[in-house]
Amino acid sequence: MKGIVLAGGKGSRLYPITMGVSKQLLPVYDCPMIYYPLSVLLRAGISEILIISSPEHLSGFQNLLEDGAEFGVSFSYAEQLAPKGIAESLIIAEPFLNGDACTLILGDNLFYGDGVEKGLQKAIKSEGASIFSYPVKDPQRYGVIGYDKHGNPISIIEKPQKPASNRAVTGLYVYPNTAVEVAKGLKPSARGEIEITDINQYFLESGDLSVIDLSKSDSWFDTGTIDSLYEATDYVRALESRIGVKVGCIEEAAFLSDFMSIDQVAARAEKLSNTSYGDYLNQIVQSHGG
Ligand code: G1P
Repeated sequence: MKGIVLAGGKGSRLYPITMGVSKQLLPVYDCPMIYYPLSVLLRAGISEILIISSPEHLSGFQNLLEDGAEFGVSFSYAEQLAPKGIAESLIIAEPFLNGDACTLILGDNLFYGDGVEKGLQKAIKSEGASIFSYPVKDPQRYGVIGYDKHGNPISIIEKPQKPASNRAVTGLYVYPNTAVEVAKGLKPSARGEIEITDINQYFLESGDLSVIDLSKSDSWFDTGTIDSLYEATDYVRALESRIGVKVGCIEEAAFLSDFMSIDQVAARAEKLSNTSYGDYLNQIVQSHGG
């Protein structure tokens, strides 16, 4: 199982902020946004990760994360020349995947909770494709799942005017390698993108799609607008100050998945000394007898 983080797009809903910087490098409280999806992949035991961004922004991610050796993992990089859709990331990733299955996560999606961790573990073990749904107030903004009267998923529609339910498809997808060929066969939608919803619809129709329903006790934010970015920042800050959890700590995720040694965590703490992030890493080191 390999991981893909798509950190592309123009971030136009955040202009003027994102006119000079990639959206996925903006802070969500005290971490760059991309740390949150990366933590999800690392915590799920995925150590080979491809980061896809636009040509003008890719170097920012390379400066931030380098080759991953510091974290005991491997980060690779690839360009998406134009924002032609989430599904295009599977085509771009084809040489990196080299026949393997993948977990794809959007670089502006923040997940937290037991349901996410357990659901992803289950999805990674299963043969087919899996997507994750979450109840939202404004389903028109998302891919939306329709269900039959027994609660089985029967449709997925991208940004429907009349949503069939309040369950949005989140930006976390697990696919067998065959998804690459499915992506290659897609035609662009009215917004000029090859839609991830069409890939999900394909697996739904072929009976190979599991929909994992996240509950309200899990958290999901798509931080693509100013208000959702602010909301996510507030949430992360509250979790940290109330229960001392740092949601997007990639070192902790890599350490808990046995990719990073406690000495490597200590080296990062040293590098980030004089920051609250560095203090948090020091606490991890101390609680493990370092
Ligand atoms: C994309 C997908 C949509 C999904 C959403 C999750 O929307 O097309 O199906 O619900 O991500 O964040 P976009 O960000 O392109 O509007």
